[in-house]
Amino acid sequence: MSRTVYVNGDYLPEEDAKISIFDRGFLMADAVYEVTSVLGGKLIDFEGHAVRLKRSLDELDMAEPCTKEALLEIHRKLVELNEIDEGLVYLQVTRGSDGDRDFAFPSEDTPPSIVLFTQNKPGLANSPAAKKGAKIISIEDIRWGRRDIKTVQLLYPSMGKMMAKKVGCDDAWMVEDGYVTEGTSNNAYFVKDGVIVTRPLSTEILHGITRKAVLRIAEEAQLKIEERLFTIEEAQSADEAFTTSASAFVMPVVEIDGVTLGEGVPGPIAKRLREIYLDESQKAAI
Ligand code: PDD
Repeated sequence: MSRTVYVNGDYLPEEDAKISIFDRGFLMADAVYEVTSVLGGKLIDFEGHAVRLKRSLDELDMAEPCTKEALLEIHRKLVELNEIDEGLVYLQVTRGSDGDRDFAFPSEDTPPSIVLFTQNKPGLANSPAAKKGAKIISIEDIRWGRRDIKTVQLLYPSMGKMMAKKVGCDDAWMVEDGYVTEGTSNNAYFVKDGVIVTRPLSTEILHGITRKAVLRIAEEAQLKIEERLFTIEEAQSADEAFTTSASAFVMPVVEIDGVTLGEGVPGPIAKRLREIYLDESQKAAI
């Protein structure tokens, strides 16, 4: 079934949606994005994603395509038109096009391009992958230095995912100067003796919206949290590990570079945080 998507003010069948070949998102990866999950037909943490989008745009001197209220309206209309109960809304804003290729930005009155589409994912909350847990490999982090800006420069993370798949694993954690930065499309954590360890926020990682919510939940559950640098070896000797993202919520990790964590099944803390996150975020969904 063809989706209805949103492009620069219009709701269109996906096959009719078009963007210029000169668009800077296409030519220069000059674009930012957000992924918001949908559960029970409602948006999870829309506010957090809207605030981060604004920050990404500001950091790149890119114009806002529309107000937050208009964005919410578009998200909701696409969820309704495409009858999404569980799934994702993808949003991308680019610096637009002035009809040619140039390293210099186009003039400031060039309108940004904005595209949104839905992804239907029935069973997202009850995912079999989360019951099994993920197998992780580690790879060198060779991305640019402003990973706090959610740009569409995703070639290296995509390659990391493929490197993992090639050896029968699910995902990769990236390592810089000996310390784990984050997963290809998620934030990374391990748990040892009841303490949750994750890298502190900086320009080296994306400031995950799910990370913020899960750390708040952990704090409310009286769990101890240490935001500090950590190595793959430390994570390998942990009791359990997990990742967080809008597309997979809390995903247990059961193996890192061939080393099995604990019993090789999702750990109790990851499972509990996933349950509470799903419960609380659905209650607060809009
Ligand atoms: N990725 N780190 C990276 C590099 C990411 O790409 C993502 C999200 C996260 C988690 O952020 P959040 O909790 O706000 O989703 C961390 C999205 C889901 C994606 O690219 O599809």
